[in-house]
Amino acid sequence: MQADFWHQRWQAGEIGFHKHDYNAHMTRFIDLLGIEQGDHVLVPLCGKSLDMIWLRDQGFRVTGVEISPIAVADFFSENNIEHDVTEDSWGKSFKSAGITILCADFFDISPTDLPHVDGVYDRASLIALPETMRPDYARHIAGMIPDTTRSLLITLDYPQQEMKGPPFSVSEREVSRLFSDQFIIEPIYTEDCLVNEPRFREKGLSRLDERVFLLTKNIT
Ligand SMILES: C[S@@+](CC[C@H](N)C(=O)[O-])C[C@H]1O[C@@H](n2cnc3c(N)ncnc32)[C@H](O)[C@@H]1O
Repeated sequence: MQADFWHQRWQAGEIGFHKHDYNAHMTRFIDLLGIEQGDHVLVPLCGKSLDMIWLRDQGFRVTGVEISPIAVADFFSENNIEHDVTEDSWGKSFKSAGITILCADFFDISPTDLPHVDGVYDRASLIALPETMRPDYARHIAGMIPDTTRSLLITLDYPQQEMKGPPFSVSEREVSRLFSDQFIIEPIYTEDCLVNEPRFREKGLSRLDERVFLLTKNIT
């Protein structure tokens, strides 16, 4: 997906993906990351997700990466979080106690721009990208995190021909194709969520499964 697409979505306020509750899969399964208070969690393509606040409140240090300046500004203003802004070569860093958001193209961020990553949380990030970009995303994540680091990955799986993404359908088979060369993949939960998602039913979907995976960066 081109950056312009997302800038337009944020400009127009078309952000149906943004949730006002903490993600129930995150709160249920975060312990599987095996991280401790003070550890650092990377949230790629973070939007203005409130999940970052929940993660901070558990005692984790959080870094989000988000391309839209509107999303980043909204996150700090809507949640009344004091922050400092600094300029970097790839964009701006918005730093607050416990949460930093890099306002940048995720693909421009390298491991040296981040503290040591102890865990990754991906909800609606991989599935925001079209098929052609997803292998680059998987490689980029793998290149940013140390061996043994775990990621919690939440995907949607539906008949792609029934709806134009985003969000795109990413099946279990595709998760395996994208990540199995560098990660051990454990499917941990699947939920039939069509009944709870009227906006997707209205778009004509006949099936919608939300899937949660634990990915562990393989020691090679
Ligand atoms: C579907 S939203 C999900 C946001 C967030 N993960 C959540 O759960 O609410 C995808 C987000 O990725 C951002 N995005 C898309 N491409 C990006 C890129 N290359 N680098 C950084 N952010 C990007 C978009 O602006 C959008 O906010």
